[in-house]
Amino acid sequence: MELTITRPDDWHLHLRDGHLLQAVVSHSANHFGRGIVMPNLKPPITTTSAAVAYRETILKAVPASSDFTPLMTLYLTDTTTPQEIKLARKSGVIFAVKLYPAGATTNSQDGVTDLFGKCLPVLEEMVEQNMPLLVHGEVTDPSVDVFDREKVFIDTVLQPLIQRLPQLKVVMEHITTMDAARFVESCKEGTVAATVTPQHLVLNRNALFQGGLQPHNYCLPILKREIHRQAIVSSVTSGNKRFFLGTDSAPHERRGKECSCGCAGIYNAPVALSLYAKVFEEAGALDKLEAFTSFNGPDFYGLPRNKSKIKLTKNLWRVPESFAFSLGEIIPMFAGETLEWQASFI
Ligand code: DOR
Ligand code: ZN
Repeated sequence: MELTITRPDDWHLHLRDGHLLQAVVSHSANHFGRGIVMPNLKPPITTTSAAVAYRETILKAVPASSDFTPLMTLYLTDTTTPQEIKLARKSGVIFAVKLYPAGATTNSQDGVTDLFGKCLPVLEEMVEQNMPLLVHGEVTDPSVDVFDREKVFIDTVLQPLIQRLPQLKVVMEHITTMDAARFVESCKEGTVAATVTPQHLVLNRNALFQGGLQPHNYCLPILKREIHRQAIVSSVTSGNKRFFLGTDSAPHERRGKECSCGCAGIYNAPVALSLYAKVFEEAGALDKLEAFTSFNGPDFYGLPRNKSKIKLTKNLWRVPESFAFSLGEIIPMFAGETLEWQASFI
């Protein structure tokens, strides 16, 4: 079996910098036309000038054979100014602003401590500039159970935010629960949307403990119960335009994952398209795959759909055990396992 689809984009991607960037960028550039690049570097990308410089660094690392385009984002802090949002829009290369609640995940310590108290003028300017807010949707209160943090965020932050600024474009990133899927479905199409990762479509929380602790399946928001996975699969494969592809591919060097306090993040860029195709095939919805991978994202962002195509072939292929690079190695999702769908350029 073979499918030809419009070249997909990745609406949530961690490319990192330095040696790690060099090691991973081709895996995304080989399959995707564009990627919304997350700003959680050390230090974070909080200004337009930093984003412009980071974009140049990425473009230098993209293989010459690829025309992959990085779409840059700004990291929202308590001190981001409305003027910075104007500058970002004017730059023509920044397409969104990312909200990390301070302490929610990797490199989020400079994130927002009080969205309504500190960021309202910036959010109002984002409405003016039609600049989407990308949300890491988890509360950070340590007394809230880690499996409930997404739902509590919806009730205490997202719902009030949308009520207060109904015109703000919001993407709830990497949704993991039935609650998030239902919430996004209840919002206005074209104003609120969600990205969905491969791991939250194919794994449930058992994968964290299968045969022992599995650090390479640890990401944030953490994998949830099977009923949540099923709910997300059914939302995504229903053809609803509010859902689109965002891998959250988040590479870490192996020693940063396999240690006493391992980092959150799953490196899925090499396997993402293969897994999305599997999910849509199993749901009997291969006819809806292309909208999810290639249409709903650009339509939401008001960008043109890609013109080129890629081929997905039902071929067995083996995921490499690891990718070696100058500082060590990166273990991909499903390392060493056999997958069914293989993506290639036409
Ligand atoms: O698992 C994750 N890894 N979740 C995030 O939100 C950040 C990411 C990273 O940067 O490693
Ligand atoms: Zn992410």
